[in-house]
Amino acid sequence: MTERPIGVFDSGIGGLTVVRALTRRLPHENIVYYGDTARVPYGPKSPQVVRTYAAEDTDVLLAHKVKMIVVACNTVSAVALDVVQKRSRVPVVGVIVPGAETAARVTRKKRIGVIGTAGTVRSQAYDHAIRRVDPTIEVFSRACPLFVPLVEEGWIDHKATEMIAREYLFPLMLEKIDTLVLGCTHYPLLREVIGRVLKGVVTLVDSGEATAVAVEEALETHGLKNPSTLRPNLSFYVSDIPHAFSEIGERFLGQKLGVVKKM
Ligand code: DGL
Repeated sequence: MTERPIGVFDSGIGGLTVVRALTRRLPHENIVYYGDTARVPYGPKSPQVVRTYAAEDTDVLLAHKVKMIVVACNTVSAVALDVVQKRSRVPVVGVIVPGAETAARVTRKKRIGVIGTAGTVRSQAYDHAIRRVDPTIEVFSRACPLFVPLVEEGWIDHKATEMIAREYLFPLMLEKIDTLVLGCTHYPLLREVIGRVLKGVVTLVDSGEATAVAVEEALETHGLKNPSTLRPNLSFYVSDIPHAFSEIGERFLGQKLGVVKKM
């Protein structure tokens, strides 16, 4: 069982930032990744539609006999984590609670900003998870839908991206937040530009990194950690256009992906 892969799924390519965090923290775990590139983006879609997709994505991973499922997509974690949990007999870890708990721990002024897709922000999942830790914390959220296509276009350090970031983040700065949750798979790639716009005075919380810590804890709790010290197997599956996924994916993963297969 310990040698079985961890299953990770996302609406598309963004979840590779979570895989990157996982491979850094758990360098010997085998991973199977599924990106639903045929139906991305999930962010603007209704919770009902996202819940249907989440069930299907879960079944793809379960067919690979995974020992755990990591829901890398913030939108799915926000509106459909229960769907994934109900379908799986293996432990399930989402990205919202780890990100929220980390932010609640690091804020000093108890003023936290959250940015994510429209679906994530509308669900208020981060707000609820943060206030479950400390009800006196104030949370200010903002959907930043343009960040996703900008990152996929590779406009990481582009004037247009900086202008859009100013526009999105200005209202949060006015609220004097001291911590900002990067509540979307794509946003860790914009860490520098976001940090620059916020003039370095706001602590940025990467949900993917927080999730990797939670995954390690869950593996230990369930006795599922792989004791092997060999190089792990990383396999990538998508529902459409595998070649684009491997080209763009390298930026997200921080290493070459190898073969990407279409389901
Ligand atoms: N993976 C999604 C998320 O983290 C962003 C892309 C999408 O909208 O599907 O919410």
